[in-house]
Amino acid sequence: MTADDVIQAWDQADPAAIHPTRHVSEAAYWESGQVQADLLATVIPAGAKVMDFGCGDGRVAFPMAGRDYDVTAVDASQRMLARFAGAADLTTVQADADGLASHLGRRRMDAVYSLAVLVHHSWADCLHIIGKLRAATKLGGILVLDWPVSETPSEADSWIGVTTWSEQQQTEACARIGLEPVDSGLPWGVYRAVKVGG
Ligand SMILES: C[S@@+](CC[C@H](N)C(=O)[O-])C[C@H]1O[C@@H](n2cnc3c(N)ncnc32)[C@H](O)[C@@H]1O
Repeated sequence: MTADDVIQAWDQADPAAIHPTRHVSEAAYWESGQVQADLLATVIPAGAKVMDFGCGDGRVAFPMAGRDYDVTAVDASQRMLARFAGAADLTTVQADADGLASHLGRRRMDAVYSLAVLVHHSWADCLHIIGKLRAATKLGGILVLDWPVSETPSEADSWIGVTTWSEQQQTEACARIGLEPVDSGLPWGVYRAVKVGG
């Protein structure tokens, strides 16, 4: 599937597909976002300018904004963003990874996180997106990427499938893109934005 196929599928998707807790209850869904925001806050400095890339309907972006982060919530799906209507304390942007540069201009984020987004893309598209997220982040800034490793890596075979990576693929990608892994104990990869070759 191309990145556009994935984006198109999410635009048409039932929002219940965003996270398994939504099949439990709305309260469980929003609570899961609070829990994940607590985890993000252990690695993202207070008051940071943060981008939530592929924010969906704000499960994590809302609790991050409630913690006094300056949140820009980005999603390619207009329907997902329409569910943010009326949210005063964060900025929403409709864009895919290629649209970020024109939105940001010369501004860079202190931190970028992307949860349950990269996993649905092919290896090539995922690398392309991570390169754009790195470009949107200040040198020394933090990226939190839901970018799973497996001993039997494989690519998603549908918009809701999961792509996994070998350690070696990720190590090579980090060197090429300018990401230095940070030890965090979080369930996602945490990286510092560094110069390529630096
Ligand atoms: C599974 S939902 C996750 C939403 C949110 N990150 C969360 O964890 O609750 C995936 C979201 O990413 C968006 N998305 C997927 N691929 C994207 C891309 N290449 N660029 C921008 N948004 C994308 C979809 O529109 C959808 O809203």
